[in-house]
Amino acid sequence: MPPLPIVKVSQLSKRFGPILALDQVELEVKPGEILGILGANGAGKTTLLHILLGLTTPTSGRVEVFGQNFENHRSQILQKTNFSSSYIALPFNLKVREVLHVFALLYGLTDSHPKIDQLLQLFEISETRDTAVGKLSSGQITRLNLCKALLNSPGLLLLDEPTASLDPDIAEKVRHLLRQAQARDGLTILYTSHNMYEVEQLCDRIIFLHRGRILASGSPDWMKQQFQQATLEQVFIRIARSGDVLAPENSGSHQQPT
Ligand SMILES: Nc1ncnc2c1ncn2[C@@H]1O[C@H](COP(=O)(O)OP(=O)(O)O)[C@@H](O)[C@H]1O
Ligand SMILES: [Mg+2]
Repeated sequence: MPPLPIVKVSQLSKRFGPILALDQVELEVKPGEILGILGANGAGKTTLLHILLGLTTPTSGRVEVFGQNFENHRSQILQKTNFSSSYIALPFNLKVREVLHVFALLYGLTDSHPKIDQLLQLFEISETRDTAVGKLSSGQITRLNLCKALLNSPGLLLLDEPTASLDPDIAEKVRHLLRQAQARDGLTILYTSHNMYEVEQLCDRIIFLHRGRILASGSPDWMKQQFQQATLEQVFIRIARSGDVLAPENSGSHQQPT
């Protein structure tokens, strides 16, 4: 029997007034999979992650995480989930170690100091531990967010454009650390990025969202073959510009059989 999916959503839709941000999304994510969620601005990527974090309530559909119904097991699920986003603000007047300590308390961790030190070292920002968040560079804040995201040793990590402000060297290190966490702890990662190189390096599989619908799902190589493009960037542009024509009901299924 295949292992139970870590995330399973069916017929998931989210409406914001006239906007259908997610439209009948079907998705299963396997344990230990790194799934890239691609799509133009407004495609519905953040909405999907927010639903998995309980920050947005779906209009309709089912969400299961760790094999449990999200509505009924929300707090158990969220205890084992974490996220990082370029778009959240950390309290700027607290020091780095204080911020992580506060989050550790929120997560119910006892004796979090060794873990905090270990994560700061891992992301190479130990020297900022007594620096106020407001004085950090954007790359340091990004790494602090990732430390926060791994603090509760999550089984599911949701990353919304986490490396947007990192230089190529640090971005490469972060990818390596995420791969390590996947290999060592079986961490499952859902990840959005507009950096196609990074997506290709990191993701086992990607899905393309277009106006809230999944237009294609498969490995980066499969996507390039399927859309007859040399690079993932070209696949992205093709889908973003002609997604309406490529939608399954217009063109036959582009979904990879699983
Ligand atoms: N809280 C909200 N209220 C109204 N519309 C929203 C809200 N959040 C997202 N949307 C709309 O839903 C669509 C999908 O947004 P989002 O999930 O943020 O896209 P992405 O992350 O792919 O750029 C967009 O049209 C956006 O304007
Ligand atoms: Mg977004």
